[in-house]
Amino acid sequence: MKIQNKFFDAQSDLTASKILIYQQYIKNYLPKVLMQFGKCFIADFFCGPGKNGTQDGSPLILLDTAKSMLESPVLRKKWQNPEVIVVFSDDNKEHIDNLTNSLKQRNYPDAIKIIGPLCEPFSSILSKTSEIFEKITEPKFFFLDPFTYSDVTIDNVKTLIDTPSSEVLLFLPTFHSYRFVGCADSVGALKLFLENFTDRGCSDYKDIADFNESIRQRLLTYLNLEYVRSVGLDDGKRKNALFYLTKHRTGMILMNNLVWKYTQDGLTVKAQRNNEMTLFNLSTLSDNFVRIKDFLQGYVKEKKILTNIEIIDVVAQKCFTNKYATKILKDMKKQGLIEIEYKTSNKTKGFYVADGNWNKELAVIKYKEQ
Ligand SMILES: C[S@@+](CC[C@H](N)C(=O)[O-])C[C@H]1O[C@@H](n2cnc3c(N)ncnc32)[C@H](O)[C@@H]1O
Repeated sequence: MKIQNKFFDAQSDLTASKILIYQQYIKNYLPKVLMQFGKCFIADFFCGPGKNGTQDGSPLILLDTAKSMLESPVLRKKWQNPEVIVVFSDDNKEHIDNLTNSLKQRNYPDAIKIIGPLCEPFSSILSKTSEIFEKITEPKFFFLDPFTYSDVTIDNVKTLIDTPSSEVLLFLPTFHSYRFVGCADSVGALKLFLENFTDRGCSDYKDIADFNESIRQRLLTYLNLEYVRSVGLDDGKRKNALFYLTKHRTGMILMNNLVWKYTQDGLTVKAQRNNEMTLFNLSTLSDNFVRIKDFLQGYVKEKKILTNIEIIDVVAQKCFTNKYATKILKDMKKQGLIEIEYKTSNKTKGFYVADGNWNKELAVIKYKEQ
């Protein structure tokens, strides 16, 4: 209990990096889904008290971001009454009271419908709302930010991601579970977590990235998804992670771009407040970049013929970016390893491996037998 109280006294750097990814994703996700559907649902089922020390926590970050998005004249031109419907819940009464007070002090437009804040355990709110969410076809985003790995089961995540047009951002305190893998047999909850949330259970992991990858693989197969990525959060001492799950290629493209923007290796946000901007972009020097580059080159060689859409898709699945994939293809072309065939007479330059072309077949990339 003490640790939990301390959590809300001040925002740690690790929490700040978690909030950064959440906020940046929401900021990019909201305009896209609101423009297309005019409406979306966001649920924060572990919402907390609203503030971590002087810093805003996830509920206030969400509401302020939604408020500014809903003011967009471009959106208002397309939709007269766009709506963001938000659900807040937490099982701690004091947190719910604090959040309720914070909400009273801020003015939010009618276009934001707030359900709650409700004082409910996650399991109970999930069983009450899952049938409702199943019937809603508009986009839904679920933020699950528990304290411990036993608060959310993989079947809870399945319930949410199986609803139409849904995405999940799940925080897992992976560092504790990774460090204690060796003694998992004597800790029931940890053993259960490893069996449920990893594809290798209590085995040896090379490092925390390997452990996170094992969780990612398990989520992909158990939930029958194509797009899952981890976002490592590292403050030098603790290494936790967010897991982002979606059924839509464009969501994955968005999250991949964000992670490559805020990390030096496309994998882990080094949590440091007032992060100095790096003078040089180190991403293309990282081991992870080299690993994905080797994969992509091998993939083109193996498949021999790929449309630009097929390349965009595999790039999204591999948690990579189209910008970097294009760099790699340029190199391959320079070396005479590939040639391009264009599908339309007015588009005859480059590879069309770009975010906006995720569903437009414009080019075929062919591996040239050496
Ligand atoms: C890490 S904090 C959330 C912080 C919040 N996302 C923010 O950014 O400010 C986790 C919250 O989950 C709540 N919680 C823990 N177990 C829960 C459960 N089983 N059901 C509902 N809430 C729970 C705690 O009371 C706490 O407020």
